[in-house]
Amino acid sequence: MSELNKTALKILESGKGILAADESTGTMTKRLNSVNVESSPQNRILFRETLFSSQGMSKFIGGVILYDETIKQKTNDGLSVVELINKMGSIAGIKVDTGAKQLAGSNKEKITEGLDGLRERLGEYYKLGARFTKWRGVYNITKDYPSKLSIHTNAHALARYAALVQECNMVPIVEPEVLMDGDHSAEDCFSKTSTVIKKCFDELILHKVDLKGVILKPNMILAGKDAKLQISNEETAKQTIKCLKNSVPNEVPGIAFLSGGQSEIQATENLNHINKLNDTSFIMSYSYGRALQQSALKHWSKNIKDITGTQKVFDHRAEMCTLAAQGRWSSELENN
Ligand code: 13P
Repeated sequence: MSELNKTALKILESGKGILAADESTGTMTKRLNSVNVESSPQNRILFRETLFSSQGMSKFIGGVILYDETIKQKTNDGLSVVELINKMGSIAGIKVDTGAKQLAGSNKEKITEGLDGLRERLGEYYKLGARFTKWRGVYNITKDYPSKLSIHTNAHALARYAALVQECNMVPIVEPEVLMDGDHSAEDCFSKTSTVIKKCFDELILHKVDLKGVILKPNMILAGKDAKLQISNEETAKQTIKCLKNSVPNEVPGIAFLSGGQSEIQATENLNHINKLNDTSFIMSYSYGRALQQSALKHWSKNIKDITGTQKVFDHRAEMCTLAAQGRWSSELENN
């Protein structure tokens, strides 16, 4: 078994998932301002350190995706953030794209940037202790989108990224996110997500990426959030599995879904259904940002010194997600 394959499996072992705490400073500022907390470097590390040092981390979280600022910060105890994460038995990862920018030639769509100088930055992140990485391509659904151009350019960038990351002995998370925005049907989401993912794997193969050392981070199959007709959790699970079976090569060890604007409960319930029906060889777990942190952030914002209370809220969410990754979640457990 290759080192990369071992790392990917370790991150997702026994129902563990990934905490996506890699919000850029801009996004984190929005999140903190929405709960009336000042977005200072001190407050950003305080919230994150509160989560990273919680008991649930060692039980439920196999990997944490960090942002450039965070991986260079120190905790209250003087540990580096990576040291803290490793002490909790988890693996540190890093977001390495530099964001989605307007795509020339189709300027209502986006192309993710960050390839220039990436090899050098990856070397630095490896030295800082990162063992996996993330890059997010983003796609909108409308009648005309995602365009062929956006599907092609984003897949190409994801593949160049993944090849460089493996060269630096880290596991790339490949994240093609088809957004929930809009009023499109679940059928549209199914067909467009399938096309996007297939194209990503065509490019990964062309770029000689070792698929056993990759984690795919896709969206689930859902109707657009403004669509009148929504589908059931069970239908989401069925369609999501069908889409992944048709578009992901069997060598890929694990799939870790993004939450993408679903509520905490919806993201948990859908993941649970997926795992109840999962008849593939893929591990199906989570790599949630909002669906792991929302309640904890709300609780923390009321008293940023309440570390224990905030950790309790986070631990509960992480436990529920891990149960869902094992197909063992039920709504009654939410109230215990
Ligand atoms: P959400 O789970 O909030 O969608 O965030 C996951 C993520 O990493 C998006 O890039």
